[in-house]
Amino acid sequence: MNNPVLEDVLSGKRKIAVIGLGYVGLPVAVAFGKKVPVIGYDINKRKIELLRKHIDPAGEISSEDLSQANIEFSATPEVLANASIYIVTVPTPVDSHKVPDLNPLKNASQTIGKYLKKGDVVIYESTVFPGCTEEICVPILEKTSGLKANTDFFYGYSPERINPGDKVHTLENVVKVVSGSTPEITDFLAQLYGLVVKAGIHKAPSIKVAEAAKVIENTQRDLNIALMNELSIIFDRMNINTYDVIDAASTKWNFIKFTPGLVGGHCIGVDPYYLTYKAQQLGYNPQVILSGRRINDEMPLHVASRAIQMLAEKGISALGAHILVMGVTFKENVKDIRNSKVFDLIRELRNYGASVDVMDPIADPEEVANIYGETLIEKPSRIYDMVIVAVAHNQYKQLNMDFFKEILHEKGILIDLKGIYRKQQIPFKYWTL
Ligand SMILES: NC(=O)c1ccc[n+]([C@@H]2O[C@H](COP(=O)([O-])OP(=O)(O)OC[C@H]3O[C@@H](n4cnc5c(N)ncnc54)[C@H](O)[C@@H]3O)[C@@H](O)[C@H]2O)c1
Repeated sequence: MNNPVLEDVLSGKRKIAVIGLGYVGLPVAVAFGKKVPVIGYDINKRKIELLRKHIDPAGEISSEDLSQANIEFSATPEVLANASIYIVTVPTPVDSHKVPDLNPLKNASQTIGKYLKKGDVVIYESTVFPGCTEEICVPILEKTSGLKANTDFFYGYSPERINPGDKVHTLENVVKVVSGSTPEITDFLAQLYGLVVKAGIHKAPSIKVAEAAKVIENTQRDLNIALMNELSIIFDRMNINTYDVIDAASTKWNFIKFTPGLVGGHCIGVDPYYLTYKAQQLGYNPQVILSGRRINDEMPLHVASRAIQMLAEKGISALGAHILVMGVTFKENVKDIRNSKVFDLIRELRNYGASVDVMDPIADPEEVANIYGETLIEKPSRIYDMVIVAVAHNQYKQLNMDFFKEILHEKGILIDLKGIYRKQQIPFKYWTL
């Protein structure tokens, strides 16, 4: 039997509001908006204007999907007065000292607190450290609303596993973890998300467990990539191609296949700091997790110094060398440039005196200029001493050596960070991670 609150959601008596319409919030709002009326609230007015025209600035959701969803988009918090279920999907970044910046989460909680009514349910989806929902967010909801948690209103946590750019592992197709402030709320969350998630629901025994599960998913990935990055530094000194080694090792049933690369973005390179921050607060200094972070953060420097070394081996001075960097997004086939380590690589190459052109077929040139002060070129503008393919966009995977012969000197160097051309006959000095 359906929970009475769910019946109210289905009948439209209680509305769902999604707070923060980014890579995570918008797909959540659209999925629910195809079933029931949804309020989509974001502080970014320009984003709301675009969404009202059925344009997703992140390029993840099609205008067709947006037009099929019943969502009232607004940048005015007063719309939340009509909501009863609040799903919070605001950013959880770190500051310049790698300390969690909880301001968006605190601000969103304050905003919700102003409109919270008896019987309402607040669900956090943003990635946090274990304890954050109950130690930081719920007290703000109580203080701002004057209501008491688990008496007047209820709450829960459901981590998000959306993978931007991935059309296979979507919200609907991946098991959703939920946990509520009471067993009844856990059941309600399971039924609520069951409306949109077809892959199944996992009920975690506590909110802290659900929070911890999300943060370790990304920490594990970060560490596995760090291991591959360290191996690539070692194998480079042995003149062994790391990708060939990984291909060979992957034939064993229990080898877990990860590849080296630059770790940027909003999740993998950030979430481990949420866990280490909380661990340090509790008097434990994580060693494995932080050393993985250090290795991944230092990869742009490693790539830049190897690049300059290879130029020197060819008798080309770094000072004034012409380098083309292809791909700046934090990973392949997405527009997202947040915390992209490619910009660290570019900066490092310029520090050596190289002249660097930069292009990307997917990144928004305006956003790149605003955030990083970098002007993207549309196509290669000259013959280069070195080309660095930094991101494995599908467009780049389709290229062959005819393309590079047009833009690289005969004695030029092709750096292919993700190893996407390594099966081709390469007429240049060639290097991968
Ligand atoms: N992007 C991913 O792949 C991914 C995957 C899983 C989990 N997460 C987690 O989900 C959360 C959201 O990430 P994202 O990538 O969607 O971020 P995002 O930056 O794409 O979107 C967040 C949105 O929240 C809005 N916002 C900020 N403060 C607000 C406030 N006080 N009230 C209303 N709106 C506000 C911003 O304007 C923005 O549109 C983070 O905790 C992230 O770690 C992200």
